[in-house]
Amino acid sequence: MLELGARLGRVLRAGDTIALVGGLGAGKTTLVRGLVQSVHPRETVPSPTYTLIQTYELNGLTLWHCDLYRLEHPDEAYELGLIDAMGEDVCVIEWPDHLGSLLPKDALGVEIKFDGDARTVALRGWEGRNV
Ligand SMILES: Nc1ncnc2c1ncn2[C@@H]1O[C@H](COP(=O)(O)OP(=O)(O)OP(=O)(O)O)[C@@H](O)[C@H]1O
Ligand SMILES: [Mg+2]
Repeated sequence: MLELGARLGRVLRAGDTIALVGGLGAGKTTLVRGLVQSVHPRETVPSPTYTLIQTYELNGLTLWHCDLYRLEHPDEAYELGLIDAMGEDVCVIEWPDHLGSLLPKDALGVEIKFDGDARTVALRGWEGRNV
């Protein structure tokens, strides 16, 4: 998951959204940690469970790391500033289903299945981009 995060980090462009799908403990935050630490190795990357959002500056891009598990209604994403950020900054979102139809259609879907320490990941979208 760390390596996949680093790989995704190499192809990011402003305006990208990544939807991380997978159950509790699937490795979504671990992937974001790999992404951020591939640029800033000493950065701590906590789970934004309570803050919902944590932002990072990566090579001129602003990255929004969001954990929407506690979002009760998609409209709350407006108050967080997330709706304005999507399509402008890079947004990597855990529990994207909590956004309902507010999730951009051109988001990269990363679906993580896990069994013990093993992980299987399916990527959907971003045809023509070399992830
Ligand atoms: N191959 C693996 N990839 C990622 N994490 C793994 C792997 N094997 C074991 N783990 C462990 O699984 C846990 C993954 O936690 P992580 O916080 O990344 O999950 P999460 O999907 O963000 O969960 P949550 O939905 O609670 O936010 C960590 O404790 C990590 O050490
Ligand atoms: Mg997490």
